[in-house]
Amino acid sequence: MEFRGKLILAPLAGVSDATYRRICRENGADIVVTEMVSARGLLCDPRRSGRYLDYDESERPVGAQLFGPDPGEIERAAAEVARRGFDFVDINMGCPARKVTGGGSGSAILADPRLAGEIARAAIRGSGLPVTAKIRSGLRDGEETYLDVARELFDAGVAAVTLHPRNRGQMFSGSADWGHIAALKKAFPDRVVIGNGDVRLPGDAARMIAETGCDGVMVGRAAMGNPWIFATLKGEAAVPAPGERRALILRHGEEMFRLHGARGIREMRKHLAWYSRGIPGAAAFRAELSRIVDPGSFRAAVERHF
Ligand SMILES: Cc1cc2nc3c(=O)[nH]c(=O)nc-3n(C[C@H](O)[C@H](O)[C@H](O)COP(=O)(O)O)c2cc1C
Repeated sequence: MEFRGKLILAPLAGVSDATYRRICRENGADIVVTEMVSARGLLCDPRRSGRYLDYDESERPVGAQLFGPDPGEIERAAAEVARRGFDFVDINMGCPARKVTGGGSGSAILADPRLAGEIARAAIRGSGLPVTAKIRSGLRDGEETYLDVARELFDAGVAAVTLHPRNRGQMFSGSADWGHIAALKKAFPDRVVIGNGDVRLPGDAARMIAETGCDGVMVGRAAMGNPWIFATLKGEAAVPAPGERRALILRHGEEMFRLHGARGIREMRKHLAWYSRGIPGAAAFRAELSRIVDPGSFRAAVERHF
């Protein structure tokens, strides 16, 4: 796995499913990752949690993101990820949501750098695959632990550390402090550091690399409803032509219907709300979303508005 020089689609719960990951790969994302999957859930109820680990060969290279506080469970879940044929394992050490941190996972791990290292070692042992970890800067203002956490992770042998430089208390408020990405790269010049946070506009990925020296760039929210962002960030394409946008949205919805039936079309509503940002009549379109219930109403609405 080469992470240097790559643009990576961020793990996005409820968004980066197999269909959306493939669409992003086709539009310039170099590497994709599943949304977070509970290691315990995967071990106890593989049918239910395993749904999040469906992928298509065309997504490669594709990683699976696990979360959990227990190295033993992470080891066994990572083995299962390897059995399913993923290219790498990513460990979530950044999620600020209470339902994740309450169980000692996600950003809660930032309080205990040694545990972070143990978890990474367990994932490497269990999977035999390259393992990456995704972290935030720390728990709260003035308590940045990312340098200590990264040291443990790199000592454990991770292939890359991704830093989203907000702390847990910030959730998504304020702005990502790219200075922390620069400090991480400066502290570990020979290791692979992936920068993440607030990459949105055409020049942002190049600017993040220039300002921080990071090796790769991960994009999350800006890719929601805008899979073209990757080509834009690479300077390959500007905005897609309306016909191209419409064709892609129709294909996205048709695939969601094929894979998930009526639930897929309902799931598609949130993607449609994101796709509609900036189009004329977006507010009227969003008001109509609840009436999209089947492939026919979906196609008609997309053809009318896009
Ligand atoms: C809807 C949503 C779902 C997310 N789900 C995950 C997740 O499953 N795992 C994870 O590590 N981060 C998750 N994140 C955080 C993103 O991966 C990323 O770190 C964050 O959005 C900052 O990057 P951005 O400014 O490019 O969006 C999520 C963020 C959003 C907005």
